[in-house]
Amino acid sequence: MGVALPGQMPRRWLHSAIPLAVFALLLVYLWARNLRCGSGTQSCIAEGPPPFQVQQQSGPVEGAEWEEPQCLGPQGMLGRIMRQFRASLKPEGDVELSQYLAGWRDLVRFVTPLGSIFAFATSEASAKVTALEALVHGPQAAHYTSLGTMVAWERPEIASSPSRASGSVSMLLLHRALRWSQLCLHRVATGMLGGPDAGVQCSDAYGTALAPHHSWLVRQAAHLAFLAFPGRGRLLKLMCPGARETEARAAVARAAGTLEDVYNRTQGLLAERGLLELA
Ligand SMILES: *[C@@H]1O[C@H](CO)[C@@H](O)[C@H](O)[C@H]1NC(C)=O
Repeated sequence: MGVALPGQMPRRWLHSAIPLAVFALLLVYLWARNLRCGSGTQSCIAEGPPPFQVQQQSGPVEGAEWEEPQCLGPQGMLGRIMRQFRASLKPEGDVELSQYLAGWRDLVRFVTPLGSIFAFATSEASAKVTALEALVHGPQAAHYTSLGTMVAWERPEIASSPSRASGSVSMLLLHRALRWSQLCLHRVATGMLGGPDAGVQCSDAYGTALAPHHSWLVRQAAHLAFLAFPGRGRLLKLMCPGARETEARAAVARAAGTLEDVYNRTQGLLAERGLLELA
């Protein structure tokens, strides 16, 4: 009787173990942070600027003239993400999947070092990017060039058993995660001095964009992770290294604007086809 079990047991065990492991990792992370920074999370954020910033800040303060920061240039990660997402917007109104996924790959790479909450929010995204890439490069590649061609091809599954329309479902989950990334980056870029800190703003964005689609357990884990969210100054330095704060803010706002264009386009296409509640 028990002989048939070995294949199933580990999988079932994994299902409950993964959320628990996420919890455990978050707790270890928070605990390690407290050891380093004392009891308040704020004291970590208020540390002095990292060495590479000191030189910048002691330099002469120039006029309001815009100097494109390195993060938007050919070598800059933020610039690369923007170019790839922009290239996914096809002139006739569709979204090209290979460019969209390339943008996502770099977006995940970009936000993962920013802190556990980003890694947490994008781990699902990363899996979906991999799943869609397999379709884009798979035997049915001709049907997976754009969002429009994919949905047309998967239409029979969408109508009968939606969970089997794997490309469309993955796309929808990425679409929601893109909304969170866009709102969070926009708020990091535009938040006012004395207003809510970046962690509160991005946590609110999580509540809007992702929480309604997550289980209770995942939402609790996310709330925990937001406690350790880096401060705005630190985020801007990580996102746009070497730039002054105003330049970094402008660069991040531009990136958020590009993500918004892509989000709006995708939202329109998914809504037209009645796919926003597919998963
Ligand atoms: C995206 O759509 C919203 C709502 O339709 C609109 O207010 C916003 O201006 C659009 N953003 C861009 C960048 O087009």
